[in-house]
Amino acid sequence: MNRNIVCIGAGYIGGPTMAVIAKMNPDRKVYVCDINAKRIAAWNSKNYALPIYEPGLVDVVKEVRGKNLFFTTDIKSAVKKCDIIFVGVNTPTKMFGRGAGRASDLQFWEATAREIKGYADGDKIVVEKSTLPVRTAAAMEAILNDSAKYRFTVLSNPEFLAEGTAIKDLLSPDRVLIGGPETVEGRAAVREICDIYAGKDGKWVERYKILTTNVWSAELTKLAANAMLAQRVSSVNALAGLCEATGADIDEVARVMGADRRIGSKFLKAGPGFGGSCFKKDVLNLVYLCETFGLHTAAEYWSGVIKMNDHQQERIVSRLFKAMFNTLANKKIAMFGFAFKADTGDTRETPAGYVARLLNEEHVRLAITDPKAIENGKRDLAGLDGITWEKDPYKAAKDADAVLLMTDWKEYPALDWEKIFKSMRKPALVFDTRNCLDAGALKKIGFRVLNVGK
Ligand code: NAD
Ligand code: UGA
Repeated sequence: MNRNIVCIGAGYIGGPTMAVIAKMNPDRKVYVCDINAKRIAAWNSKNYALPIYEPGLVDVVKEVRGKNLFFTTDIKSAVKKCDIIFVGVNTPTKMFGRGAGRASDLQFWEATAREIKGYADGDKIVVEKSTLPVRTAAAMEAILNDSAKYRFTVLSNPEFLAEGTAIKDLLSPDRVLIGGPETVEGRAAVREICDIYAGKDGKWVERYKILTTNVWSAELTKLAANAMLAQRVSSVNALAGLCEATGADIDEVARVMGADRRIGSKFLKAGPGFGGSCFKKDVLNLVYLCETFGLHTAAEYWSGVIKMNDHQQERIVSRLFKAMFNTLANKKIAMFGFAFKADTGDTRETPAGYVARLLNEEHVRLAITDPKAIENGKRDLAGLDGITWEKDPYKAAKDADAVLLMTDWKEYPALDWEKIFKSMRKPALVFDTRNCLDAGALKKIGFRVLNVGK
């Protein structure tokens, strides 16, 4: 067995994860492959115009690209060169047929299994990096080992990094999870993957943080962890509505709840609801799994997390409507932030997209600004009239009736809000859905201010 690694899928997960694996394992060659030639060209671009924005990523790629990290569309020769194969392809929610709207669409995943089988020229360890329904490894094994000349051992190594902090999360993870079959080959394969995460000379992840389980526990833990995090966001947003109705302040409630170590302070920030490519998809997947196993009450429980999230975004538009005298038609609203969270250009499932569509139905003139997400945003909202995109937030706010802050970019509290106020139509409203601006200072300037949970 050689030490080389290939990852199939050069997206948000494959690119950063393999860059850090290469950095921490300079004695291994790491290949990252994709069928999307444009994406691979961007990973290889001379000026490091990488296909995704992630703080610190360019520095890591500069350090290892061309030394022991290689981006390529030649999946066939990469599979031949490497005995360890990570699979990090997309597993979106299925939009057709059985399980539509809930189950994972595994067509890209299955295609890679067939590619691996077709190209392999020896025994391989295949590592699930994508997030998958429980027992997917069994399907992968069935395809790979059916009448194959070589032996394939399938492990699950789900990724827990969050976008915006991917490099930090990869360099010092809370834990790494490796699930493997309880067989002699399975245990040996798990040891191989543990060695990768330990890094050269044991300089990466401490051994006690590398947790091993059976394959099914590993697959389920990934869905469970995302569902628990999403559930916390929905819970705090459910409380936010009650705060607005009663005069309580959600930031105060969250601060005091979070001071209890049993509850903990993370993921208690009320806002426009969760976005991102995974929370909704993974909770829906969990719902589908529960239904498949006849656990209907559990399915309903997890469905509530999504229902609450959708409600939170609808509530933003309702409150804006009410605050703007029950008519939004032809009014100009400047949307500050379109990415699903700060420090990323990713707009998949962004609350801003959902809210923008609802505002568009009300014939709002929307001017959207974002430091990193304009290109993705334009693609998401293509075909909608009445939307303009502005790099400069001051230009976006000029002559607007309201600023609707959707993403907590650190640039926004630092803006000259007096200048913004002067350039807007009066009465000027700020709806800060992230509670990240100084509401007192804004009111002093003359703004009407709305927050979430206050
Ligand atoms: P992505 O869409 O950014 O990247 C997936 C890539 O796989 C694409 O570039 C696509 O072209 C490529 N691909 C698809 N089929 C292929 C094939 N047959 N051969 C080669 N390449 C192929 O998706 P992502 O955000 O990187 O997510 C990938 C997986 O990782 C998902 O299952 C997701 O749930 C999981 N995950 C993502 C994150 C995250 O922060 N984005 C975090 C943890 C887990
Ligand atoms: C999330 C998980 O945090 C990662 O562990 C996981 O690997 C990843 O999903 C995945 O599987 O893709 P990510 O979606 O990148 O990471 O970002 P988060 O920081 O979790 O934020 C998700 C959403 O929740 C964002 O829209 C964010 O603004 C929102 N959020 C988060 C809140 O509204 N309040 C909070 O307190 C925390």
